[in-house]
Amino acid sequence: MKHITIAIDGPAAAGKGTLSRRLAETYGFHHLDTGLTYRATAKALIDAGLPFDSEAIAEKMALEVNLAGLDRSVLARHEIGEAASKIAVMPAVRRALVEAQRAFSRKAPGTVLDGRDIGTVVCPDAIVKLYVTASPEVRARRRYDEIIASGKAADFDAIVDDVKTRDDRDMNRADSPLKPAEDAHLLDTSEMSIEAAFLAAKRIVDAALNKN
Ligand code: CDP
Repeated sequence: MKHITIAIDGPAAAGKGTLSRRLAETYGFHHLDTGLTYRATAKALIDAGLPFDSEAIAEKMALEVNLAGLDRSVLARHEIGEAASKIAVMPAVRRALVEAQRAFSRKAPGTVLDGRDIGTVVCPDAIVKLYVTASPEVRARRRYDEIIASGKAADFDAIVDDVKTRDDRDMNRADSPLKPAEDAHLLDTSEMSIEAAFLAAKRIVDAALNKN
């Protein structure tokens, strides 16, 4: 049986999460935010007081991540995101998590996976691939607005720096760097509302599903 997977990649705060959730709801597919698998591994290390620089220890934690129990609200902390992007450079960690992500991608009737390397590494045969991006300033503004809306204080310039540092680490690592797959549709949401981005993505996915 052919598996139907929609692959969504892009940098931090590009709006992949909202887009992926809405696409999954629309088509009745299962959704996996693969960033949470890296975050869960990082949180397990933090909670156990273990270092982030041992690949063997991080791999062991990655092998124990349970995909069914992932919850962004308990994994959202900035410190966890930072640690996640550090352990995400380790090949053994990526191997363990990618295997679990691939198994998830085969669920019926279809799946939406979002992350950094879905179209390039995890699901290269995905029926449709989207690379969602926006300028660093727009992405930082969205993250800033989210934090302010949640009633917390935020420093816009620090968030811009953070977004750029994260991009740099994700795009320049040796194993599975963040980049669009050759056959990905590029979706720059800098000038789009969430609704407009969703409609643009849905048009691309509908066209791909009708072709197959
Ligand atoms: O929420 P945010 O966009 O900051 O990041 P995330 O999607 O929660 O992912 C956290 C970190 O995990 C990213 O900075 C990446 O380094 C890493 N990651 C990855 O390497 N590959 C993926 N498929 C997903 C996330």
